[in-house]
Amino acid sequence: MHTTGRFVLAGRIEEISACDPTRTVLEFLREDKGLTGTKEGCAEGDCGACTVVLGELHDGAIRYRAVNACILFLPTLDGKQLLTVEDLPQPRDRQHTELHPVQQAIVDQHGSQCGFCTPGFVMSLFAMYHNHPEDSIGRTDIDLGLAGNLCRCTGYAPIVRAAEQALKAGRTDHVSAEEDRIIALLRSIQPVDTLKISSGTRQFLAPRATRELAKLLQEHPRATLVAGATDVGLWVTKQGQQPDTVIYLGEVAELTRIQDDDEQLHIGAAVCYTDATAAVTAHYPGFLPLIERIGAVQVRNAGTIGGNIANGSPIGDMPPGLIAAGARLALTSMQGRRLIELEDYFISYGRQDLKDGEYVEQILLPVPPPEQLFSTYKVSKRFEQDISAVCGAFCLRLENNTIRDARICYGGMAAIPKRARACESAMNDKAWSQETIDQAMLALLEDFEPISDVRASAQYRMRVAQNLLQRFFLEHGEFTFPVRIGASPNAPGRANGGIKGSSNA
Ligand SMILES: Cc1cc2nc3c(=O)[nH]c(=O)nc-3n(C[C@H](O)[C@H](O)[C@H](O)COP(=O)(O)OP(=O)(O)OC[C@H]3O[C@@H](n4cnc5c(N)ncnc54)[C@H](O)[C@@H]3O)c2cc1C
Ligand code: FES
Ligand code: FES
Repeated sequence: MHTTGRFVLAGRIEEISACDPTRTVLEFLREDKGLTGTKEGCAEGDCGACTVVLGELHDGAIRYRAVNACILFLPTLDGKQLLTVEDLPQPRDRQHTELHPVQQAIVDQHGSQCGFCTPGFVMSLFAMYHNHPEDSIGRTDIDLGLAGNLCRCTGYAPIVRAAEQALKAGRTDHVSAEEDRIIALLRSIQPVDTLKISSGTRQFLAPRATRELAKLLQEHPRATLVAGATDVGLWVTKQGQQPDTVIYLGEVAELTRIQDDDEQLHIGAAVCYTDATAAVTAHYPGFLPLIERIGAVQVRNAGTIGGNIANGSPIGDMPPGLIAAGARLALTSMQGRRLIELEDYFISYGRQDLKDGEYVEQILLPVPPPEQLFSTYKVSKRFEQDISAVCGAFCLRLENNTIRDARICYGGMAAIPKRARACESAMNDKAWSQETIDQAMLALLEDFEPISDVRASAQYRMRVAQNLLQRFFLEHGEFTFPVRIGASPNAPGRANGGIKGSSNA
């Protein structure tokens, strides 16, 4: 066990040994280090003013990712590099520095007015600058990459122009040139055993293997597990919670891996969305429009599928699609490992099938048969950075135009993510036709009695749920309309429901 966390800041190793387990990186930067370039806007991961970049060793190089410092716990930096806007200006000669190309582009394109959001945009652009090969970036990538940064002044067009200027210029920054030195520093601080950092009676524990995790959880049954902290972070910053013991899952090797054994994908519970996307959408392209709308890049770089499930929210976006696809969960403790159907995990509002001492170890996602159709849809008030009013997921096989194995699941329609059993019965073994869909849409009235709340009325939710089923049929079905939407029923890729785009209200 080591009791000092070490990370790279401003090109030097920074050490933390006594620290509040939920002290945020933003508090540390502004209050402890006086690095006030990184701003606090919302303190809940929404506005991006606090965006910093984490550098991590990956395949012998440094991988840069933008994250929100306001909901990132300081001890999770152990073994990483923290880059802030103060790191970007580069030396021109002994006396002078010059702006980083992404900063210069913001100046050239008039991408800053009051300036409050600017450091956050600069850091998001910096991560994109390092993650996109020269000239491969398009407008959609820029929009996706900047969706987690809000600006009240510029109207975004100048910022997008700045992104285009900077990202097409090619890499010339000194951060790349200095990479070899930073790689050596990072290698020297890679943790090899559990990190324990305490402050009074409170402590932060970061085990590195599942066995150690189970043991710690047995010793501290009331500990708060933390993966990406994109939910837990808000309990701290918005609700003022101060958990005594935090157990961080992001260093547990087995939880941060994805394996594909041809029958199923084994997704470690602490794999972040960004890392899970390629593997999940290779088998389920119909997941892509949904995953791209979970939070924004900063949230997807930290947040995990395991956390989304374990949090148990009825409007978490991943469970409906995973349940429709027939995913199972591996739940593990010192007493052993058990497998359950994901749909059985959600018992009632706020209550899940997770015993004391257990954690979610893996999500097991079956590899779909080639004739399977699969789509997910999210409906929310805003396209980006918003929670679903309704999320619908549809999965079935067609045998000679007859529906088999329909699995339909909705979020936002009940107290838990829930399958639409009556709707499925109205579809199974019936013809894939508008008449069947009409019956199935009516059957949804038997399945759900949604509530009205700030996001949507009950009536709206029901209408949307029905319309999403209609949409699924239109996108995959045999049409008599003059204009066809989506892939041809016989075209390659249809088996995976290869549609693009998901809807907002
Ligand atoms: C700005 C913003 C936008 C968001 N947008 C969306 C959105 O569009 N859609 C959506 O669904 N969610 C959204 N979220 C919520 C959040 O990002 C997701 O729920 C995310 O998947 C949580 O994962 P995490 O790793 O950050 O979980 P954490 O915050 O680390 O943990 C969440 C909960 O799960 C528990 N937990 C975590 N891992 C495990 C495990 N392996 N075993 C047992 N318990 C565990 C924790 O103890 C905690 O109770 C958003 C959040 C923010 C801040
Ligand atoms: S301060 Fe708004 S995302 Fe962090
Ligand atoms: S320049 Fe003022 S908030 Fe963006």
